[in-house]
Amino acid sequence: MKPADVIATKRDGGEWTSDELQWFLTGYLTGEIADYQMAAWLMAVCLRGMSERETADLTRIMAESGDQVDLSGLGSLSADKHSSGGVGDKTSLIVGPLAAACGVKVAKMSGRGLAHTGGTIDKLESIPGFQTDLSLERFMAQVKRVGLVIAGQTANLAPADKKLYALRDVTGTVPSIPLIASSIMSKKIAAGAKNIVLDVKMGAGAFMRTPEDAAILSKAMTGIGRQLNRRVVAVTTDMNEPLGMAIGNALEVKEAIDTLRGQGPKDLLAVSVALAAEMVRLAHDISLDEAVRRVRQAYHSGQAWQVCMDWIEAQGGETTPTGPSLPETAQKIPVPAPQTGVVAAINALTIGQGAMDLGAGRAYLGAPIDQKVGIVLARRRGDHVQKGDPIAFLHVSHLDHVERVQGLIQSAFTFSDQPVAPLPLFYGRVDEDGNETDLQSWLAAFA
Ligand code: URA
Repeated sequence: MKPADVIATKRDGGEWTSDELQWFLTGYLTGEIADYQMAAWLMAVCLRGMSERETADLTRIMAESGDQVDLSGLGSLSADKHSSGGVGDKTSLIVGPLAAACGVKVAKMSGRGLAHTGGTIDKLESIPGFQTDLSLERFMAQVKRVGLVIAGQTANLAPADKKLYALRDVTGTVPSIPLIASSIMSKKIAAGAKNIVLDVKMGAGAFMRTPEDAAILSKAMTGIGRQLNRRVVAVTTDMNEPLGMAIGNALEVKEAIDTLRGQGPKDLLAVSVALAAEMVRLAHDISLDEAVRRVRQAYHSGQAWQVCMDWIEAQGGETTPTGPSLPETAQKIPVPAPQTGVVAAINALTIGQGAMDLGAGRAYLGAPIDQKVGIVLARRRGDHVQKGDPIAFLHVSHLDHVERVQGLIQSAFTFSDQPVAPLPLFYGRVDEDGNETDLQSWLAAFA
């Protein structure tokens, strides 16, 4: 085989065999195929696409390129949850305990923040003592004992994806559905869970900007699941606006803990219950109605809260009787409403950028973050405000960027003189068989 011939196959609209894909990817990892050849290969995929079979082959090859976690000892009870990335998205911290309290074995490897979106590992590391770098033995022992473990991805999890992603980033080849789907799924397949629930974020603060694009990505990822013997469900949820009120690492952990204790924002609880119920449904092979009933019982009885505390303690996190001890900033600076009116929209992307500018995210790979800082919204879409009322609070460690971020947060809000209805929380769902669900009948299970 010659690299140029393999590239030309796709350029001319053909389909690669499994052997050709394996040969090209292996050659790239060993250095026999150069970056410029892989860049041409990636662009051919962007322009011509890949079949479901090719996408599954690529996913499998990337998953097999490094460490693979064997969760077969957990039978059908293992489940993972993945979000495609958003602002204020702390659902994993709530969904994990809810599902584990219902007997699901949640063994999850998570990432750090990417661009304006936060990462679960950064959030968890704001809890003093919490360890995210676990040996495989400890990872397995904890999921068996507590039912829940969340660790950082091992350096050698899907290394082919890591190398490819870095090249995509600098060659204009990120926005391709088969490449995004195989990139996300290669890490999920390598992490080993039998059941996978995907939260495909859609809107201004997400990588997917329309429900149609989110549905196409959902179908590609559930298709990979079927080809690789995993049960995968994808739910599209709103990311036009931040989820909940808090954005920033320790602030988001606090909000997640408050939610498990019955004092969290309704949108965050609703999305968390829906995702947890899908995990419980798949793991126990029961109806969605029964799964929702079990998740609500785990929430109202305080069982999920207890699992959350056991999990944090198992990973070395310091706790008090009311939750983990979390660091806080000394200063909370209000952002005044620039005008009187009804809040018509809050742009999640701009809010995420504001939190990054305060130090909650990384400007470059490996940069330090300030776990205490962030933004807490004081108003939601539909609320009436008077000019000068606080619409948000900046939790800051110093005053360096405060005025600029205040302006940025004000620019994220738009106002109306008419009443404004809330946005939907859910836009679509693709089930494990690849069928798009009628959303109204699915939502009826949560009524
Ligand atoms: N997240 C990933 O892991 N990969 C992509 O390609 C896009 C988002």
